[in-house]
Amino acid sequence: MAQAFKERVIYQIYPSSFKDSNNDGRGDLKGIISKLDYLKKLGIGIIWLSPIYESPMDDMGYDISDYYNINKLFGDMNDFDNLILEAKKRDILIVMDLVINHTSTKSKWFIEAINGNEKYKRYYYFEKGKKNKAPNNWDSAFTGSAWKKVPNSDEYYLCLFCDTQVDLNYHNEEVIKEVEKIIKYWLDKGVYGFRCDVINNIYKTSLRNDNFLKLYNKGTKYYQNQEGMFTILKRFRNDVLDHYDTFLVGETGAITPKIANRLINERCLDMFFEFDHIFADKSKLLPIFKRKFNAKKLMKALFNWQENVPYIANYLENHDQLRSISRYGDAKDYYKESGKLLALLLLTLKGTPVIYQGEEIGTLDYKEISYEECKDVAAKMAFKTVKKLLHLSDKKVRKLVNETINRDNARAPMQWDDSINGGFNEGKETWLKVNDDYKTINVKNEEKDEDSILNFYIKLIHFRNDDEVLKKGEFKRGYLSNNLNYFYRIYENRIYLIVLNFSKKTIKFNIPLKLRLILSNVENKDLNKLNPYFAGIFEVM
Ligand code: NOJ
Repeated sequence: MAQAFKERVIYQIYPSSFKDSNNDGRGDLKGIISKLDYLKKLGIGIIWLSPIYESPMDDMGYDISDYYNINKLFGDMNDFDNLILEAKKRDILIVMDLVINHTSTKSKWFIEAINGNEKYKRYYYFEKGKKNKAPNNWDSAFTGSAWKKVPNSDEYYLCLFCDTQVDLNYHNEEVIKEVEKIIKYWLDKGVYGFRCDVINNIYKTSLRNDNFLKLYNKGTKYYQNQEGMFTILKRFRNDVLDHYDTFLVGETGAITPKIANRLINERCLDMFFEFDHIFADKSKLLPIFKRKFNAKKLMKALFNWQENVPYIANYLENHDQLRSISRYGDAKDYYKESGKLLALLLLTLKGTPVIYQGEEIGTLDYKEISYEECKDVAAKMAFKTVKKLLHLSDKKVRKLVNETINRDNARAPMQWDDSINGGFNEGKETWLKVNDDYKTINVKNEEKDEDSILNFYIKLIHFRNDDEVLKKGEFKRGYLSNNLNYFYRIYENRIYLIVLNFSKKTIKFNIPLKLRLILSNVENKDLNKLNPYFAGIFEVM
C-alpha cells in the first residue's frame, strides 16, 4: 500500500458540501458513505477528506478544536469507522487533512493558554506588543495583521490565517509530541495517510519585522520553508510514519523545485501541491486582480514542475480555488470540450491526479454571490481590506473578490440530480446556496449522456488506472503556446504524445511522427487540423 498513491487517482471531498444524509442543510459522513459506489464507478482509489474534526468552523474545519473527535455536524466516530470499513470493502483508501500549523482558539490547549497556564502558553506564540502595537508587521494570509490582542493585557498571539486560528509553536518539543500522538491515533484507526495543511509554514525562525515595503504576506521569509520544517517532518517520519504503511502529501505554497526535491529526497513528504500554475489568470503581485487567461502561462508553470521534480500531486481545482472551466475553459461556447480538455490534462501529467468534488461533472462558479450570502472568512477579510485600501464601491470590490478569491465558488453543494437543491438533500436550506445551474449540470443527467464530461472522466480514470505509461512514464516537454500545447510521456519503449488545443480556433497540427490516436475529447476526422479545444492522447508508433 505504501506506494498506492502512485497507482491511484485521489478524489477530494469537502464534507459540508458533498451529500447531506439527514437533511440538516450540511453534508455528512453518512452522505459520503452513500456515494462510495459512485466514486468506485468513477475509478477513484483514494479519498482525501477536508477536515472533519471538531471545530467551530470559522474556517470550515481548518480551525480544529479537538483532534480526537469528529465534528458533530458530520456525524460521530461510529460513522467514521463505518466510512473506513465501507471504503475498504470497495478498495478505497481514506486520507485525512492534517491541520497542524494552527489550532482553533476553542481548542483546550488554547483555552488553558489564554487563561494564563504557562505550559500551554508555550504551545503558541504569545508576545508583548510594541508601543501598543502588534509585536511585528506580519500579515495574515487572509489580509490584516497576523496578531490578535489578548483582551485586558499587553500581549498578542500569532494567527497567520483568521483571528481564531492560532499558530502552534514548533520550537516546543511538547507540541511535536502532541502532533505525533495525533498522527498515530488516526493511523491506528486505519487511515491511509494525510494531506498536510500549509505544512511549509510550521516553523518560525524569527519574529522579526519583514520588509515594510512588501505589499502583502509580510513575514513569510521567516516562516516559509525554514530549516526547522525539514527537521520536524523528518522527526514525524522516524518517530511515527516509518512504523506504518502510509504517505504524506503536503500543501506547500511558495516552494521551488529545489526545495520540493529536498522534501522528497529526505522523505519529509511523499508528494506535494505546488501553487505556480494558479496564476495563469490572475496577478501574482496582487492576486485580487483577474488577468485574461493565458494557456502558455499555465502550461509553462506545469512543465517546469513536471521537468524538475521526481513526483508531484497534480490539481486544477480544490476547495480554495475557483472552478477550472470558469477559469481556463470556455463555459459558454465550448463547455463540454474545454471541460474534457482539462480532464485530459489533469489525468495525463506525471504524478498523482487529484480531482476535486464536482470537477468531474464540470461544475462552474456561481454567476453571482452577494456579500450577505458569502461564507468564506478569507473572502470577507479580503473584502474589508480591499475596500479600505482602494476606496472602491462595494459592488466593484465584491466583483474583484468574487472573480478571483471567493472560495465559496468551489464550495457550493454537490449537484447530484435535478430535484430540489440538486439532490444534495431533501430541500432544507443549505449552509451555502446551491448553484442555479443544477437542473442542467448534475450527476444524474451526465450519467445518462454518453458524451458528458462525467463519462469522459470515467473513461480517462479507468484508462489511467490500467496504463503504465501514464502512471510511471517520464515527462518530456513538447510545445508551448497560448493555443496549441503538447508533451510526451515515456515508459520503457512506449511513447505517448498528449496534444491540447486551448482555443476556439481550428489549428494546424503537423508533426513528423507516425501517430495512433488512443483517446480524445472530440471527434476529429482530419488530425492535421485540430478542432477547438481538441485534446487527445496519441501513441507514437
Ligand atoms: C489551506 C487550506 O486549504 C485552506 O482552506 C485554509 O483556509 C488554510 N490552509 C488555513 O488552514
